[in-house]
Amino acid sequence: MSERKLLVTSALPYANGPIHLGHLVEYIQTDIWVRFQKQRGNRCYFVCADDTHGTPIMLKADREGISPEQLIAQVGKEHLADFTEFGVAFDNYHSTHSEENKLYSELIYTRLREGGHISSHTITQAYDPVKAMFLPDRFIIGDCPKCNAPKQYGDGCEVCGATYSPTELKNAVSAISGEKPIEKDSVHYFFNLADFADMLSEWTKAGHLQAEVRNKLAEWLDGGLRQWDISRDAPYFGFEIPDAPGKFFYVWLDAPIGYMASFKNLCAKQGLDFDEFWAKGSNAELYHFIGKDIIYFHALFWPAMLDGAGFRTPSAIFAHGFLTVNGEKMSKSRGTFITARTYLDHLNPEYLRYYFAAKLSAGVDDIDLNFDDFSQRVNSDLVGKVVNIASRCSGFISKRFANVLSADCAEPALFQDFIDANGQIAEFYESREFGKAMREIMALADKANQYIDEKKPWLIAKQDGKEAELHAVCSMGINLFRLLAAFLKPVIPKLAEDTELFLNIPPQAWPSGAQALLSHTINDFKPLMTRVEADKITAIVEASKENLEKTAEHPNPAAVAKPKEFEPIAETIAFNDFAKLDLRIAKIIKAAAVEGSDKLLQLTVDIGDETRTIFAGIKSAYAPEDLEGKLTLVLANLEPRKMRFGLSEGIMLAAGPGDKEIWILSPDQGAVAGMRVK
Ligand code: 2FM
Ligand code: ZN
Repeated sequence: MSERKLLVTSALPYANGPIHLGHLVEYIQTDIWVRFQKQRGNRCYFVCADDTHGTPIMLKADREGISPEQLIAQVGKEHLADFTEFGVAFDNYHSTHSEENKLYSELIYTRLREGGHISSHTITQAYDPVKAMFLPDRFIIGDCPKCNAPKQYGDGCEVCGATYSPTELKNAVSAISGEKPIEKDSVHYFFNLADFADMLSEWTKAGHLQAEVRNKLAEWLDGGLRQWDISRDAPYFGFEIPDAPGKFFYVWLDAPIGYMASFKNLCAKQGLDFDEFWAKGSNAELYHFIGKDIIYFHALFWPAMLDGAGFRTPSAIFAHGFLTVNGEKMSKSRGTFITARTYLDHLNPEYLRYYFAAKLSAGVDDIDLNFDDFSQRVNSDLVGKVVNIASRCSGFISKRFANVLSADCAEPALFQDFIDANGQIAEFYESREFGKAMREIMALADKANQYIDEKKPWLIAKQDGKEAELHAVCSMGINLFRLLAAFLKPVIPKLAEDTELFLNIPPQAWPSGAQALLSHTINDFKPLMTRVEADKITAIVEASKENLEKTAEHPNPAAVAKPKEFEPIAETIAFNDFAKLDLRIAKIIKAAAVEGSDKLLQLTVDIGDETRTIFAGIKSAYAPEDLEGKLTLVLANLEPRKMRFGLSEGIMLAAGPGDKEIWILSPDQGAVAGMRVK
């Protein structure tokens, strides 16, 4: 068989927020598949990038007083650091705000235009007269026309589920300025998707899609394909459309082109041939892993764009379901909206890689992260079954045999059973049935443990003249452990690498033809993985609630499900509401660290007529001893909040971007504790 060449992508994460566990389902799924392909000896490239364009990013940068370029540079770094620490090993991580992406976006657009697939029409849209910009539907808020629920978005009601157009909203205002939107005309550019109806109808049936996705697409195709609006008016953070001053490509036009751009960037770094992967008729395989919410873009727009511009189409689109936590949608207030960073602060990323692998299939069903199940599976499978084999055998090999394995394989048939399982395990990996692959591997781990249980090396060790048997049994155990580590390598690469160091062997290829290690010297065993500790999970949940307090980014909790569209609302409040705030100058009498929290300090403050306890997320900027005697601003009539660490009886107000830069009042400003601020 000739060498397989594969180019694999995960969806490009938006550069307007952190990576969270929901995202990681996809990146871990793709990474496992890519690592498997590489371990099998295939030539495989895994590329990704930050998805950087669009209105939310432009406005967020604006609010933070930085340029969009600065914002995306910062977020891009954070995303890549999160991925790297989770073991997601891209061959290239780029940005859609890149030269390569501009080039291919312009090229694809102009080829589509030359092919007659672009039209333009004047459309009428909501416009914010204060901000002087057109408003995307989700930037208009008002009362639901069906149920009157207040503060609903222009495209649908989170309360009653109704969908409507923004013009139907009652008392609509711009979510950016609070002003009533006006209607304004503008020329927009459209991609004539219907020109590709035949091509798409054929392509969607030709084995590139999962059955459930194919059926969904058949419905969409039967319903007729509408023109796709691919332009947005200035101000917009993106690429200006050629020959259309003031008009920009809609973020979803250049996002998938970002796959090409990232690969092009890799080609320059590694001297690869771009056309070998992207030209029409290419014999390379091209796979996109995506969430089921963005199928429309990847299985309709994207193949049509590629085909219309003379490029090859994807070999397959692999869609997956969403992540729920403890059976429910991730929730900021429940502390289950967990960022990658918060998880990394407390737990080993390989636990999560294994857990997701154990739950993943080739389908689009949602997967649930249940904390009890998570601990139980990791502890019982990885620690209890797999690593345990090595720890049970290595002590004897080290103490009694100077770390040298025996010269013969004690049970060649058992060793061969493990090797023979490689075909089935590989098939499961290849078809993304990772859960089935994990079950197969754990069945082998059970067999290895059974063997050790039957032989009882701890008893043999006590008998005289049984040195050879002890040596043979423990060496056999180590050899079986080594094969398990090879099978698990795509899922838990760090543990696999540590195993290679322990066993003193080169990186393990897929073990279809592995031979037992005989008369081979290994290294001393160091614990390869420890058990999940329940208090770490509690700490993650608490820290995720703290994140919510710190950022308070989404006034509407339902909005967390739609991070890419939704942005914090710059709402105004009535003067009467302001007048209700009891703002006081407070003197910090005592400050102390809070055990179990890396962000909070516990403050005792004098607000004039009484003292209060307040938990404040300012540990990154102040040591407790620096605070005592200082003055700070406090909102004294905030409803007390029960926190894990105690009751917080107010909130401290500070200025600055966070981290080391959090400014409170200084003690020498002539203010006294208790002074009211208004
Ligand atoms: O849904 C999202 O988060 C998008 N940023 C995914 C883009 S995938 C590709 F088209 F770039
Ligand atoms: Zn409603």
